[in-house]
Amino acid sequence: MNIQNKDFIFSEFGVSGREEKVSEKIEEFGGKLVDNILYDVTGSLICVKKGTSKKNKKIMLSAHMDTIGFIITYIDEKGFLRFAEVGNQPDAYLLGKRVVFENGSIGVIGIERREYEKKLNKDKMFIDIGAKNKEDVLRSVKIGDICAVYSPYKVTDNIITGGWMDDRIGCFILLEVMESLKNNPNDILFVFSAQEEVGLRGAQTSSYKIEPDIGLAVDVTESSDLPEGELLGSCVLGKGAAIKIMDKTVIVPKRFIQYLCNLADKYEIPFQRDIMRARGTDAHAIQLSRNGVITGGLSVPVRYIHSASEMCALEDIQACIDIVKCFCQEEVQLC
Ligand code: CO
Ligand code: ZN
Repeated sequence: MNIQNKDFIFSEFGVSGREEKVSEKIEEFGGKLVDNILYDVTGSLICVKKGTSKKNKKIMLSAHMDTIGFIITYIDEKGFLRFAEVGNQPDAYLLGKRVVFENGSIGVIGIERREYEKKLNKDKMFIDIGAKNKEDVLRSVKIGDICAVYSPYKVTDNIITGGWMDDRIGCFILLEVMESLKNNPNDILFVFSAQEEVGLRGAQTSSYKIEPDIGLAVDVTESSDLPEGELLGSCVLGKGAAIKIMDKTVIVPKRFIQYLCNLADKYEIPFQRDIMRARGTDAHAIQLSRNGVITGGLSVPVRYIHSASEMCALEDIQACIDIVKCFCQEEVQLC
């Protein structure tokens, strides 16, 4: 696992609908490792690695490039900015946080009155870029510009913490697998999807475009190892790759779950059974594309999803890389 040489994955700006900086960097890095590069209309990047088998199936691996953020909707005369959400960000994670704009401008999220801190509401919040007045703001930020809460990642012995782990971790896993593939029997279509956080839009358009036989979404899942966290789901940090059984938007077919568990057992890769009680992933859109595609999910357990400091365990990331590698190298009997 090499985080250093894929640093760009965790640091390039890419809020939903504005993923170009991320896709350009991925194309630059991965382009030489695959046979073909495509884009779909929503901005998803598709890297195709041809298979060697005669019974060639098309396997779509999907990880989303986009992160949640805000769009500027109003600028007042004093130079404070009002915003609307792009994707869903819990209010509790926002006050006093730094935001970064696509052009590099920086702002801080404030609130109108201290008493509103007891009952948080984004409509009472604003972004302050330190401008003197509206005219001053317009020199760097205009209505429709997009920003995101962010803090740079930090790696310690066994943990990585930072913004945008959801789902740059998935993109990282796909790139690690792409680098290692050799004589894969099936066509592997690495989809770096756009606009997941606003409704799985990139996974939908790309799965119609490439018509896969099998789908696998690689994303994050809510970690439940927090005080009274057991209602969040079934997974914890450090116990291995999370094999999806169910989330709010998908029920994975039994044979797909069994296939992934057997694969992990066979190669002695640690895994856990994942039921996420809220949220969904690209698996939903792939499964329901055309007349239906058999689709599963593999995730990294993460604490504080959609905060500026998402936290996950390096060994879980490694376990996901290992399972996806094996999945791509074997003749899959799922359809
Ligand atoms: Co998310
Ligand atoms: Zn995600």
